[in-house]
Amino acid sequence: MLTRARDEDVPCKILGRGANVLVSDDGFDGVVVRLDAPAFRRMEFRDHHVEVGAGTDLTALTRICVRRGLAGLEAMAGIPATVGGAVRMNAGGRGGEFSDVVRSVRVMAADGAVEEWPRARCGFGYRHSRLDSCIVLSAALELRGDDPQRVRARFESFLSEKQRTQPLAEHSAGCVFKNPPGQSAGALIDRAGLKGAACGQAVVSHRHANFIVADRAATASDVLGLIDIVREGVRRAFDVELQLEIDVWHPLGEGSLV
Ligand code: EPU
Repeated sequence: MLTRARDEDVPCKILGRGANVLVSDDGFDGVVVRLDAPAFRRMEFRDHHVEVGAGTDLTALTRICVRRGLAGLEAMAGIPATVGGAVRMNAGGRGGEFSDVVRSVRVMAADGAVEEWPRARCGFGYRHSRLDSCIVLSAALELRGDDPQRVRARFESFLSEKQRTQPLAEHSAGCVFKNPPGQSAGALIDRAGLKGAACGQAVVSHRHANFIVADRAATASDVLGLIDIVREGVRRAFDVELQLEIDVWHPLGEGSLV
């Protein structure tokens, strides 16, 4: 199907849990694939290693690892992603990044070939990898054995800190902007006085300024309009150009896989 899409010039995207994605009000004019067949949701544990399908829910994986006393994923608490999305975006936070536990990634390359990429080839950086042009099929992870109670305590502490500082119960696409080197986008937006700024039904969160919260009536245009307002406000206040962390899907599929 993907080869056919490429041959016929139809853009294609893989959708994980959609947590970091903003789809234009005009939709996306192409093929959207969800890897939710059982084969993409399998988890195979061997000692401290786990081979996990790209469609696996990251929260489910993290909770199973916590129960088994396997350490390394605790900082993923509260991140609503699939494993494939977490690998591609190198999801994480101050407590660590997903790539910390990745040994290798099985991908389908742009030409349809299935390849095993060792960690070093994946080009992991801050919310970035070199996997943009591939489809992540599965990942081989290496965790560390630890006392399950200690692993759980770390997981709970990351989760409660996020619940305290982030609007997890509201609709949002997670942190909208990447942190500029050595700075916090949230703190810059906050110090620019932009908490509570609104465009239509989209509002800069009072709890964490790098989140835009949107009620059900909000449109993607509201969110995009607010992104422009925030960028302009931070540029004017601090001369800093904020870069988007979220992925914006446009109708004609710029930046799509095929
Ligand atoms: N801050 C403010 N006002 C705000 C928000 C934050 O002053 O409205 C201050 C905080 O008080 C703190 C500093 O900014 O001193 C940093 O804030 P925080 O600890 O919340 O971390 P962050 O850098 O804003 C990062 C990730 C989050 C991740 C958290 C926790 C980015 C862009 N954000 O946030 O990731 O959950 O650390 O580990 O890298 C995401 O990627 O979607 C995301 C939410």
